[in-house]
Parts: sequence; C-alpha cells; structure tokens
Amino acid sequence: KITGIGHYTPETIITNHYFIEKGLDTSNDWIVERTGIHQRRFNKPNSGSSELSHKASLKCLDNAKLSPEDLDLIIVATSTPDHLSFPSTACILQEKLNCKNTPAFDLSAACSGFCFALSTAENYLLNDNYKHILVVGVDCLSSITNLNDRKTAILFGDGAGAVILTKTNSKNSGIIYSKMYSNGTHKDILKIPEGGSKSPINPEVTKNESHYIHMDGKAVFKSAINTTVPAIKEALNSVNLSTNDISYLICHQANKRIIDNIALKLKIPNEKVIINLDKYGNTSAASIPLAMSEFNDTIGFKKGDILVLVGFGAGFTWGVNIVIWE
Ligand code: UT7
Repeated sequence: KITGIGHYTPETIITNHYFIEKGLDTSNDWIVERTGIHQRRFNKPNSGSSELSHKASLKCLDNAKLSPEDLDLIIVATSTPDHLSFPSTACILQEKLNCKNTPAFDLSAACSGFCFALSTAENYLLNDNYKHILVVGVDCLSSITNLNDRKTAILFGDGAGAVILTKTNSKNSGIIYSKMYSNGTHKDILKIPEGGSKSPINPEVTKNESHYIHMDGKAVFKSAINTTVPAIKEALNSVNLSTNDISYLICHQANKRIIDNIALKLKIPNEKVIINLDKYGNTSAASIPLAMSEFNDTIGFKKGDILVLVGFGAGFTWGVNIVIWE
C-alpha cells in the first residue's frame, strides 16, 4: 500500500507569454485551447533531477513518518537523469538521503515511467524480502526540449513526485492491479533522434538539434487515447469494478484534450478527473505522482477511495495501476 506521498516543483514559473516574448510563433490562446497549459516550472541550472527527487522524497518520508534507513529499495523513473547513462539518479538520491546500503536503480519508460516503477516495486514487495520501497517519478524535460520548436517547447515542464510502497497482507487496500504495455513499432513518433550510443553527440548532432525531443504530436495524441481506454477497461474488468466505482482518474498530464477524451470515452465525470497540467505542463514521469500528491495536500483522498492511474508515452509505452487508498 501507499504509506507516504510527496512532490516538489522548481520555483521558476514559465508562463505561456515567456515563449511569445522569446519570439516563438505562438499565442496564449493557442496553447490554452490546444493543451490546457497556462504555465510550467523550469529547474534551475546545475540542479538536475536528483535535486528535485531529493526534495520530493524528503516530503514523502515525512508524510510516511519513516526515515531514509527504513527504505529497502529506491526506484527512480526518469528520462532525464543527472548524467547520461551513469551514475544513476537513484544512486545520487541514495547518497543525498544518506541511506548507504539501500539498492537503487533508475527505470526508463518515458512518461509511463511512474506506472512502470509502481508495477516493478509491487513485484519486489510480492516476491522479495522488502518492506518499504521509495518510488520516484522525476523529469527535467526543459533540459532536452528545443525551446525554439513551438510544437514541443510549450508542452513540457520539470517536477518530481514520490511515493513509498509498503508491504501489506490486506487484499482490500493498496495496489490491487498493475499492468505495463509496450509497442516498439511506434518508437519513432516521440523520440530524441541522436545523442545516444547509435549516434553519439557531436557538433553535427547539436547543429541539427537532433539531441532534443522530436514528436509527431497528432500520432502521440491518437495513440494515447487508443491504447489507454481499452487498458483501463481491461484493468477494471480484471478486478470486477466498473467505471462508476472509480473515485479518481489520474492520467499522465500531457494534454487536457487527451484526458477529456479518455474520460468521455469511459463516461467518467469531470469531478472525478484530477488535472493540474494547467500549472505544471507535461512533467513526464513526475506527472502522476505530482497530481496525486498535490491533490492529497489540498483536497485529500479518503480511505477506501479507488484511484485509477494511467500513464502513456514514448516507446510507445502505457500502463495502468488501480490503488485503494488507505
Ligand atoms: O507525454 C506524451 C508526450 N506528448 C503528448 O502527449 C502530446 C500529444 N499531442 C498533443 O498534445 C497535440 O498533438 C499538440 C498539442 C502537440 C498539438 O496539437 P494539435 O491540435 O494536434 O495541433 P497540430 O499538430 O495538428 O497543429 C495544428 C496547427 C499546425 O499548423 P498548420 O499546419 O495547420 O498551419 C501547427 O504548425 O498548429 C500549429 N502549431 C502551433 N501554433 C501555435 C503547432 N504548435 C503550435 C504552437 N502555437 N505552439
């Protein structure tokens, strides 16, 4: 079950007007109408995902009334680690938390990262001798976004969210369903074309700006809806629940129109749909725990609430978790 939750977003607020002032051919009306985003946060230079993770994790530990030494495993879902490849951001977080002997690793599943990490943590708790696992979703997409490309620049922001998953014997609380999905045939609709092992970074790559996010927005939009709606139906079926039983739907915060479409197709009313992308944009792996944690801080979940978490993103990947809140 989830025994702690916390989030952190950087202080610097970037409004839609920032891009207009920067000379991008866009408008506040276009961004708000097409995405629902009003502002996002950008991390400060020389900070990185580990610093955001650290701040979110401290809040999460405080919320759980646990100390770092209680953690048996740290999983950090991110596509924007502090360093390319290694050391993992999870190891840097482990050092910052001062929990010396705790194994820690990063997990890469783009915007589905948090759902994949929850599923992974759940399986460690079911099969291994672990009691408390810290699961962090964090991204600083501002570091890999071309701020001169209007198709992507206006979408992304930076943030972190964290939960602690704790082993429980209760069948009626905590994570009651998790499933991860991937379809590599859609690998090209959202990617960073160069700068990896296939085409390492060099002056040509930077000149072509192919070390930044490239996206076929329409294709991602359609894939998001076409994959998640059946996945949510399958999830609810498997645990004998219906859409009426859902207390809250918490989708990856990519675009308000995507979330509205998913909710409409499932006939889930607006008041059960948690949205905070207007303030933070698309924070990738952070968006689901950030939305959950902020909601919990302000309005608050109640014991017994049924939360459906839905992630989707590059790969193409998507995933669903159903959680009964304690
Ligand atoms: O985490 C997963 C990652 N990403 C996503 O989930 C994003 C999924 N896709 C989307 O959210 C939407 O496809 C976008 C917001 C990216 C784009 O919205 P759209 O309604 O699909 O617009 P579009 O790509 O069809 O573009 C419509 C027009 C185009 O102009 P023309 O060709 O009709 O003249 C674009 O060039 O809007 C133009 N456009 C813009 N105009 C003003 C694209 N970006 C902008 C912009 N400001 N920032």
